[in-house]
Amino acid sequence: MFIQPARQPSTPISNPFAQDMLAALRNRPRWISPKHFYDARGSALFEQICALPEYYPTRTELGILQRHASEIAALMGEQAELIEFGAGSLRKVRLLLNAMRAPARFVPIDISGEFLQQAARELRQDFPRLNIHSLVADYTQPLRLPSLPSSQGRRIGFFPGSTIGNFQPREAEDFLRMAARLLQGGALILGVDLIKSPDMLHQAYNDAQGITAAFNLNLLARANRELGTDFKLDQFAHYAFYNAPQQRVEMHLISQCRQTVRLNHWRFDIAEGDSFHTENSYKFTLDGLKRLATQAGFTPGPFWIDPARLFCLAWLQAPA
Ligand code: AVI
Repeated sequence: MFIQPARQPSTPISNPFAQDMLAALRNRPRWISPKHFYDARGSALFEQICALPEYYPTRTELGILQRHASEIAALMGEQAELIEFGAGSLRKVRLLLNAMRAPARFVPIDISGEFLQQAARELRQDFPRLNIHSLVADYTQPLRLPSLPSSQGRRIGFFPGSTIGNFQPREAEDFLRMAARLLQGGALILGVDLIKSPDMLHQAYNDAQGITAAFNLNLLARANRELGTDFKLDQFAHYAFYNAPQQRVEMHLISQCRQTVRLNHWRFDIAEGDSFHTENSYKFTLDGLKRLATQAGFTPGPFWIDPARLFCLAWLQAPA
């Protein structure tokens, strides 16, 4: 049976996705935050990206964690409380939890409640004695965590995947400052993607199977589903390239024809060749990473890096 998807021709503009899409349609250059990629379809596509042969970050970071988990756990100390920002599938944190000595509590934080609850249920099955306190929240906003009266351990943050690279430099610093306050006297374990050959970066965001293109286009498909816009998806091209002076991979969606798009009662002209800038993925040098961490109040080091020097897992000591 075919069910006509629900359309909401006058979605209230109080919805953050609708607000950001309206701003993207009105402003030049057209920019929309990559946080809107992650509806259920976008999250599933991102999981597929992580398994692509061209997308090296996930397997490289997992390799670093596998090699160094016990050393990292020793730095955390006994009875540490582990907080994961933007928890997702909780695959990587298992390697840390397995190595940790008597963790006091694990707090995964994610904005997507359904995804988080499911991942936490699965984790509970594998770690039945672990105190898990999942928190549905936007971790880029100031957070307050319920206190842990009996714990004598430190508070350790975990922010893997180089998601920090999807923030603008100013946002990255703001996030790190917030984390430094929250982790007071503890540390942040931060995953960052390193600068490397432009060719390798190009391939990672232009995979042969077209999964990254589908992930990028899903943003407009999501708008058509949820906001009642009428983007002609087959008339947009995925365009990703490494912008070396800015040290970032940029993703865009480029209109292949002149088209008019409706959002609520507004109509917007999109010219042939117009771009929606959908993501920046900043890449780091070790010096740049140290500078950023220090500016935000952390003392950086040690750093764990894979043999090909593609990715870095950094220990950032938070001020007391
Ligand atoms: C989630 N984030 C770190 C990914 C990245 O590499 O910037 C998102 C992504 N975009 C395209 N491929 C993967």
